[in-house]
Amino acid sequence: MNDDTRLQVLGLSGSLRKHSFNTAILHAAVGLAPNDMHIRVRTLEEVPVYNEDLRAEGYPVPVQALREEIAAADGVLFATPEYNYSIPGVLKNAIDWASRPPDQPFEGKPVAIMGASPGRIGTARAQYHLRQCFVFLDSRVMNRPEVMVSGANKLIDESGRLTDDATRQHIAKMLEAFADWCRTMK
Ligand code: FNR
Repeated sequence: MNDDTRLQVLGLSGSLRKHSFNTAILHAAVGLAPNDMHIRVRTLEEVPVYNEDLRAEGYPVPVQALREEIAAADGVLFATPEYNYSIPGVLKNAIDWASRPPDQPFEGKPVAIMGASPGRIGTARAQYHLRQCFVFLDSRVMNRPEVMVSGANKLIDESGRLTDDATRQHIAKMLEAFADWCRTMK
């Protein structure tokens, strides 16, 4: 039996890169989360490319696992890179797999979004595309505070630690709000 009463948040990174800035801000979030929140970070390399024929044979094991993790979580926290002004295929692919009926696990799910880029706009364009997916999936996406980390290459060191205090404080503030958001939706 799991007697952990903290909010269980699944942190999904849209990058497979070993030194990903987005995975780095998720790991920062783990340490910045309020006491009543636990964040588990996971990446998406095991999810195969979506194919309806494959799905007709049943969910592949990594997809089934992902669906169960989303369903079990009190909230999902995304960190998305911006690729060509949108979200990476890796992330869209995983959402497409997870969202297929029956029991699509994003329905009614509290969601928060952040993103990091070396560029100036800090993934804003990608984040609004990601929000659009969750309109169809009827998730409860928190509007604010938004976390758009620009100039990420200057804020994250070679070991993957987010070193910028202002950004750390901003993520902590967003997580406080997300804890309230998840509790309200429970
Ligand atoms: C990028 N990058 C990028 N950055 C941005 O701010 N806006 C964009 O539209 C794009 N487009 C884009 C397309 C593709 C195919 C790649 C590979 C990269 C740069 C991107 O922000 C950078 O590579 C980040 O480091 C990716 O995030 P991770 O892997 O560090 O988490």
